[in-house]
Amino acid sequence: MDFMNDKNTSLKQLKIFVAGHRGMVGSAIVRQLLAKGIAPEQLVTRTRSELDLTDQAAVRTFFAQEKPTEVYMAAAKVGGIHANNTYPAEFIYDNLMVQANTIDAAFRNGVKKLLFLGSSCIYPKLAPQPMAESALLTGFLEPTNEPYAVAKIAGIKLCESYNRQYGKEYGVDYRSVMPTNLYGPGDNYHPENSHVIPALIRRFHEAKVGNLPNVAIWGSGKPYREFLYVDDMASASIHVMNLPKDQYDAQTLPMQSHINVGYGSDVTIADLARTVGKVVGFTGQISFDATKPDGTPRKLMDSGRLHALGWAPKVDLESGLLIAYQDFMSTL
Ligand SMILES: NC(=O)c1ccc[n+]([C@@H]2O[C@H](COP(=O)([O-])OP(=O)(O)OC[C@H]3O[C@@H](n4cnc5c(N)ncnc54)[C@H](OP(=O)(O)O)[C@@H]3O)[C@@H](O)[C@H]2O)c1
Repeated sequence: MDFMNDKNTSLKQLKIFVAGHRGMVGSAIVRQLLAKGIAPEQLVTRTRSELDLTDQAAVRTFFAQEKPTEVYMAAAKVGGIHANNTYPAEFIYDNLMVQANTIDAAFRNGVKKLLFLGSSCIYPKLAPQPMAESALLTGFLEPTNEPYAVAKIAGIKLCESYNRQYGKEYGVDYRSVMPTNLYGPGDNYHPENSHVIPALIRRFHEAKVGNLPNVAIWGSGKPYREFLYVDDMASASIHVMNLPKDQYDAQTLPMQSHINVGYGSDVTIADLARTVGKVVGFTGQISFDATKPDGTPRKLMDSGRLHALGWAPKVDLESGLLIAYQDFMSTL
């Protein structure tokens, strides 16, 4: 991995804005950048209360003053099904504004390299599995998070449109990555509003300390899902950001430029539950309540493009879950 694929910029000249640096993904990107030799003073960060990225004037002032050389866009309004269903206006408005303001202000202030983080929910509800980048805009989206997904699709199209209009003249090279389900340090363990892995970690932990004989999992346990440890996501993000342009271009198209980031294989919810139970040290029974809905039978990313670009994940599910469980324990 080479931070200096732009031959005019040396490592020390980099000034990197990580938007959303306190979030699960943004904090992992910061950890990885520091581990790869970026100095703390080369990183620019702002909390939401210091800089609300939905505020166009504030974002323009920030870029004009700080003049970052590159941007990782890990700031977004993120949530589960319940939050997406309850606050659809906020999910589409906030995300559209955050992206449009950041990408446009980056361009106006000479930022040549930007990485936008999307999500696997950009793909149609009935996309063929595994989901390839070419499935984008080929069918109807999952209705529960459609406003969020439409904003994310707009984010990809913003990057592509700035590349197409300004790429040649100004050297603009804005890229997009679409992560699968992520887990790891910094996750949200809220009892009602968390994703499947943090929810299972909490339930198995509470069952262990409460000496409960059984944990009942919603659904049959048969659907397959894919999970990626968040530090692997961060390393994939830095890898894609720093790929030489000819390599990135060889795997993408001007109007289909996003790259999937997945683990490459999936597990059943039943296997996931057993692995979480093992990691947590729960010794009781696990049962499955098949009267509850299962959702889509399978959701797996096709990560062939990224693998062709020389990246592979390092952290397997059980190792990642062990670290995630330690992180959960540190929040108690
Ligand atoms: N987690 C996953 O499983 C997953 C899966 C696929 C894709 N992604 C994508 O990865 C990205 C990061 O997700 P995450 O899980 O790290 O989310 P997260 O933990 O909720 O972090 C989001 C960050 O965005 C910042 N933010 C939100 N609205 C903002 C605003 N108006 N102005 C400034 N900052 C704002 C928050 O700042 P404060 O901390 O200051 O409030 C927070 O640091 C998102 O684009 C998401 O779609 C995540």
